[in-house]
Amino acid sequence: MKGIVLAGGKATRLYPATKAVCKQLLPVYDKPMIYYPLSVLMLAGIKEILIISTPAALPHFKDLLGDGALLGLDISYAEQAEPRGIAESLLIAEKFIGKADVCLILGDNIFYGDGLSGLLKEAARQKEGATIFGYNVKDPGRYGVIEFDKKKKILSIHEKPREPKSNYVVTGIYFYDNSVVKIAKALKPSGRGELEITSVNNEYLKKGKLKIKLLGRGYAWLDMGTCDSLVEASIFIKTMQERQGLMIGCIEEVAYRMGYIDKERLKELSKSIDTGYGEYLKNI
Ligand code: G1P
Repeated sequence: MKGIVLAGGKATRLYPATKAVCKQLLPVYDKPMIYYPLSVLMLAGIKEILIISTPAALPHFKDLLGDGALLGLDISYAEQAEPRGIAESLLIAEKFIGKADVCLILGDNIFYGDGLSGLLKEAARQKEGATIFGYNVKDPGRYGVIEFDKKKKILSIHEKPREPKSNYVVTGIYFYDNSVVKIAKALKPSGRGELEITSVNNEYLKKGKLKIKLLGRGYAWLDMGTCDSLVEASIFIKTMQERQGLMIGCIEEVAYRMGYIDKERLKELSKSIDTGYGEYLKNI
C-alpha cells in the first residue's frame, strides 16, 4: 500500500500566519505539523509516500524531508496548483498510485491513542473496498457527517450538512483499493466547486464496499484549521509528551521502532538535532 499526504490549500482562516508559510509546515508544539500525519502513515506500515502541496510550499517540504531515505522511506512530491478538493489528490497521484492500494491522509490531522497502530495496519491489509474512520464531535456540521440506521449500519455520508444526522463524522484518513482512481475520475465538482472525498466514500458505500471503524473515547483526533484548534493541538501534544516522556509524531522514533532504520542511523539523526528533540532520540 502507498500513502499520500495532502498538504495543500491556502489556509485563509489562519491569515496572516499562513500568508507566506504553508499551514502544514507550522509548528505544532515542537515539530512541523506534517510530522503527525506522516508518522501515522509510517505506523500503518507505509513507506512509499507522495506529498502533495502548492508550488510555493513544495521546496520547503523537500528541504524538510528530502527523498525520505534517512528515515527508510521513499518520499516523492506533486503539485496541487489550486485547492480543488481533497479527491483531486487521487487524480494528481494517479501515476504514483499505479496498480497499488492507497491511504490518503490530510496534512493537518493528528491521530493519537493506544492501539492506533494495530487499527491502521488492519485497514492497510484490506484487499478490496475502502476503510474510513468515524469520530464523535461536538460540532459535526463542519465535517462529513455519518448517517446510521438503528443497527449502526451506515446509510449515507453528508458533507457539511445544516442539520447533521449524528455526531459521528469522517476523519481525515482514508484507505482505498486501486479502484479509487476510477471513482475519482468520474467525480463532478460539488456546489462549493470541489471534488469531494465524501462523494468517493459514498460511491464505495453504494457498492457495499465501505467499512467504517469508529474511534472511541480512547482516541484523540484533532484537525487544525483555525488559530484556536492550532493552539489546542499544541497544548494537547505538550501535555501528553511532558506527562509521559514519550513523543507524539516523532518520525525518527517511528522509523526506528518500525524497523525502517537501525540504531546507528537513529544515533546519527539524533546528533544532527541539537535540542531536547535530539536528546530524546539519543535516549531511545
Ligand atoms: C474534509 C472532508 C470532510 C471530513 C474532514 C476531516 O473537510 O470534506 O468530509 O470530515 O475533511 O477533516 P474540509 O477539510 O474540506 O473542511
